Order: sequence, then structure tokens, then C-alpha cells
Amino acid sequence: MADSMAGFGCYTHAVVRGIPASLAMEALRTDQAEVDTIKAQREHEAYVHVLRTVLGLEVVDLPADETLPDCVFVEDAAVVCGDTALITRPGAESRRRETEAMKGALKELNLNIVEMTDENATLDGGDVLFTGQEFFVGLSKRTNQRGAEILADAFKDYAVSTVPVSQGLHLKSFCSMGGPGLIVIGSSEPAQKALKIMQQMSDHHYDKLTVPDDLAANCIYMNLPNKGHVLLHGTKEEYPESVKVFDKLKDYMLIPVSNSEKVKVDGALTCCSVLISKRADN
Ligand code: GLY
Repeated sequence: MADSMAGFGCYTHAVVRGIPASLAMEALRTDQAEVDTIKAQREHEAYVHVLRTVLGLEVVDLPADETLPDCVFVEDAAVVCGDTALITRPGAESRRRETEAMKGALKELNLNIVEMTDENATLDGGDVLFTGQEFFVGLSKRTNQRGAEILADAFKDYAVSTVPVSQGLHLKSFCSMGGPGLIVIGSSEPAQKALKIMQQMSDHHYDKLTVPDDLAANCIYMNLPNKGHVLLHGTKEEYPESVKVFDKLKDYMLIPVSNSEKVKVDGALTCCSVLISKRADN
């Protein structure tokens, strides 16, 4: 693997946010399944416990805001790469104010803040896949071409390619990174088609790990001191066949994380944190 990939997944900090009671009734959703708020909060606490206690990240836990039903899905409010944080302009109007608390938290962490102020631009972090070598940006109902251009301006060291998202909420509703050079991808036709487009547009080689369930392809990869390769993924209760695929990964610390409630309002594992690699000197 190229040296440029040496630090991929070496996170030190995470920003998360609490679940407001308003999530159950008012969060945006594509389905109408009933959300159990207490269970959602318990699952979220377990997720934060994994980041903070099991993995040792420094976690900034922002308070929930009842007027922002989707605020737990912090990933959409910012894209952080190296020392730069792009504060996004989320595609859903009801979610725009989520960026205020995120901006404050990322400023406190001394990141260089770039704000997406162009009123023609929209971008949700859930549409942004950073591979360690380049960015892929999903053009979805939430993210447009102008949003992708502003992201490319913010992260000039990396190539940025766009991928149409024809199914699901975001690009990462069916894919994520499973390690350096490894894309985890769902089995559906739109997911496989999107992967093909990414592979065609890239100068880099990516291996793929195909899982039967698109949503199970949303995992969180980290490479941490004393732990090595870590993968947070869905549980066997939610995705029995996909978990069999993860179980075959060698030399990984595999951490199943329940997400049965937030998924009912289109929230996947990556949606609930912004992960940051801070060097000791910043
Ligand atoms: N409920 C997550 C979203 O629609 O943005």
C-alpha cells in the first residue's frame, strides 16, 4: 500500500450528538416505520461507548436540539480531512441549522474551517466517500454538482469525482471503506453500478468486499494504535448474511453495533459521527 495511505483511519477524535425526542415523529425518512425513542437512545449510547471507551477516541458529545429532529446524524454537517473541516450546506432545508453546533465544535478542535455559503450548493456528508487517496461524491437528492465543486476547492490535494446515486438516501447508504484500498459495497444493482463508475473514474485500484445487504455496507473502518484494523459493522440480528462476510476478515477487530432504530429514519453507522485525525501539534 502506498505511503500516502499509512495514516488512513488513524482517528483520534469523534464528534457525536444526542438524539432529540423529536426524532421519532419528525426526522426525515423514506419509510414510515415507528421508531422506539428509548431504544434509539440506548443504541446510540452504546455506539458512543464503543468510540470513547472501547476504542479510546476523544469524543465531543454535542447536546441534542429538539428543534433539529435529525441532529444526531452529524456526518451530514461537516466533512473533515486532515486539518480542514468543510461545513456543509445540507440538502434538506430543515437540517441547515445543524451546522452551527458542528462549526463550533470543530473550531474548538482548532481545525481550519471552510464554509459552504453558496446558496446554489448543497452537500450532505453522507454522500462523501473519502478513500484515503481521493473523494467520491454522490449526486443525490441531497447533494448537487456545485456542492461537489466546493468540496473539491476545500480539499485541493485530492481528486474529486462525482457518482450518481439512483437508489437510497446517500452514496454511503450502500458503501463505505472497509480498509485501505477496500470498498465495502452492497449487492443491489444500483450499488454495483455505482462501484463500477467509481472504479472507472479512479487512477487507483480498489478491492471490493460485497455484502448481501446494501445498508450493511455502511461500516466504520479505523486503524488504531494497539488495536490495528477495526471495523464497526451491523449486527447479525439485523444483517445475518452480511455479517458472515465480515466474519471472514482476517486480522480485524470486528465490532458489531446495533442500529435498528436510527435506520428507520435513514441513519446508518457512519451518519452518527464525524471522525477526526488530529496530530499532536494542532
Ligand atoms: N433522517 C436523515 C435524513 O433524512 O437526512
